[in-house]
Amino acid sequence: MKFSDQFESRFSEMLTHYPTKRSLLVPTLLYAQDEIGYLSDEAISEIAGRVDLTELEVRNVISYYSMLTTTARGKFNVQVCTNIACMLRGGEELLDHCKKKLGIGHKGTTPDGLFSLEEVECIGACSWAPAVQVNYDFHENLTTEEMDKVLDQCKNKGTQ
Ligand code: FES
Repeated sequence: MKFSDQFESRFSEMLTHYPTKRSLLVPTLLYAQDEIGYLSDEAISEIAGRVDLTELEVRNVISYYSMLTTTARGKFNVQVCTNIACMLRGGEELLDHCKKKLGIGHKGTTPDGLFSLEEVECIGACSWAPAVQVNYDFHENLTTEEMDKVLDQCKNKGTQ
């Protein structure tokens, strides 16, 4: 499998920073996912070989982190936390609102490929609950009106 020159240069650079190759796994998976949209069988096999792990070990790590996926997602992956702090401050209502607004359920993707929606466990922003992560951006203390603004901004960016 061939990755971009940018990926290769990042990978080579990381090799100089970590004591063992396996330490490169998570950042390498994130870079690969950013580049090809999801972690394909081919990418998993390639990365496992590069960091001296088995494919099963790589898949175990992927299944642990909600930011990593083996299936294609929308351009904007909306992750709504409904864990305890967020649940107490309206996380479930926010998730229901997103489901209605986007017309998709948990792990669904809109037909135009713009949005994916996911209910997730704590994303480490409990002090600012309810919290939502869209790709790498956090949005906190959200109301349904503010959630609409976030989704509208994504839509505008995605259709430009
Ligand atoms: S419970 Fe939602 S961010 Fe921690």
